[in-house]
Amino acid sequence: TVLVVDFGAQYAQLIARRVRECHVFSEIVPSTMPAAEMLARRPKAIILSGGPASVYAEGAPVAPDGLFDLGVPTFGICYGHQVMAQALGGTVENSDVAEYGGATVAVTSPGMLFAGLPHEQAVWMSHRDFVSSAPAGFTVTASTDVTPVAGMEDRERGFFGVQFHPEVLHTEHGMEILRRFLYEGAGCRPNWTMVNIADESIDAVRAQVGAKRAICALSGGVDSAVAAALVQRAIGDQLTCVFVDHGLLRKGEPEQVEKDFVAVTGVNLHVVDAQERFLSALDGVTDPEEKRKIIGREFIRVFEEAAREIVKGGSEGGANASEPVEFLVQGTLYPDVVESGGGTGAANIKSHHNVGGLPDDLQFTLVEPLRTLFKDEVRALGEQLGLPSEIVWRQPFPGPGLGIRIIGAVTRERLDVLRDADAIAREELTRAGLDRDIWQFPVVLLADVRSVGVQGDSRTYGHPIVLRPVTSEDAMTADWAKLPYDVLQRISTRITNEVADINRVTVDITSKPPGTIEWE
Ligand code: XMP
Repeated sequence: TVLVVDFGAQYAQLIARRVRECHVFSEIVPSTMPAAEMLARRPKAIILSGGPASVYAEGAPVAPDGLFDLGVPTFGICYGHQVMAQALGGTVENSDVAEYGGATVAVTSPGMLFAGLPHEQAVWMSHRDFVSSAPAGFTVTASTDVTPVAGMEDRERGFFGVQFHPEVLHTEHGMEILRRFLYEGAGCRPNWTMVNIADESIDAVRAQVGAKRAICALSGGVDSAVAAALVQRAIGDQLTCVFVDHGLLRKGEPEQVEKDFVAVTGVNLHVVDAQERFLSALDGVTDPEEKRKIIGREFIRVFEEAAREIVKGGSEGGANASEPVEFLVQGTLYPDVVESGGGTGAANIKSHHNVGGLPDDLQFTLVEPLRTLFKDEVRALGEQLGLPSEIVWRQPFPGPGLGIRIIGAVTRERLDVLRDADAIAREELTRAGLDRDIWQFPVVLLADVRSVGVQGDSRTYGHPIVLRPVTSEDAMTADWAKLPYDVLQRISTRITNEVADINRVTVDITSKPPGTIEWE
């Protein structure tokens, strides 16, 4: 493993992902972790991430004591570069001039990281302090107009540092520099591949679950689908999946779970048709938070009832029907684990998962086969497991589903209208080949708003549809997507022509912040 020491901000996750793109496993650890604990994880290499602070700021994060005595090859990036320089006897200075954004570094002495690369390179910078002199034993490898030590290395001791961000795509040769550190500097081998990940995860699930049984809630989303498919490979019919059809899914999605997913994976599926139940629980409710609470609560209750039946060993028996159901499969991903403290064990898991909150007499041990993976790795794993691309490449969809995309009370008729409009928008996006460029494409029905229109020579008084295509890296921030006009036009024409009650289509051009991605 490669440890990415997190000095703050969002840099560490991106670095960890880039390391894995080099087919080397990486983990993020806090900068407060003692060096001995780091060593206990037997790292092949350590990377010190960027961070927002100045090394001279009060409370600025520092490298753990003894980190540079571990004998592990270490690469400092940005703030990590400065931490390394300072700890080993170099000098870091404050500057009045910040260097943000694109810059050009000149390679002064290629060393290992820059060997054979162009003398001048475009890089991405984001710093104010700078290293003015490298520690004894280091060679300065690169500099810019304002940063005398933009790169340094002490190959003998396995220490490397760069002031710029190799993990950012604007840094022309960033990936090459990272690969050199990993392969040449640290002797890592590129053996983190999907085949190995799948095999290892399947073995781990088998070892954890043994002959016992497990259940899993399928939502129709990528994460639960991949987790379920993987666990099915590991333990076969000892797994029972529960699919709660709450009636708030998009057109074709229940069928995708009930038919396509089962056909491909052979998973043992228990379907609960709870549409009426959700509709009556939501009857007349317009407040967004209220809707979320009701949907969450009903989901747990329905799942709980299904789980009880399965635990009792009812009709779904499957293999090992007499064994107790001890395990609950969840599609928790690595970013959730990192953001909630990075520790191990169930206590740290964010509560956004649909089936948290089960009653005390229904306690399960969690099986989380995806908890070391990033989203793109989960998708690759899904492909490796043979899941259809409509599932693997499905855009994120909120747990409360279309319930929070109808502004106003939720009714069956309104759901049908929204489903039709949404299906058209998705179809045209796919036809234009833009699926994977768009992070998410909510379609929203303003059910309590009416506007006047003219259709077929007569006056109409219908509802508007809002299109909300966004681009994003992680849903924390988002930008409104500039879809081509002809695509927007086709969507608009088709929705007003084909969907009853809709006489107006609008596009939401708000970024996040200030808007959120969803309207409720
Ligand atoms: P917002 O609207 O807050 O959404 O910008 C950020 C991301 O989260 C999704 N989302 C949810 N996902 N349960 C979920 O599983 C929820 O209650 C929920 N609310 C929002 C949203 O679709 C976007 O991807």
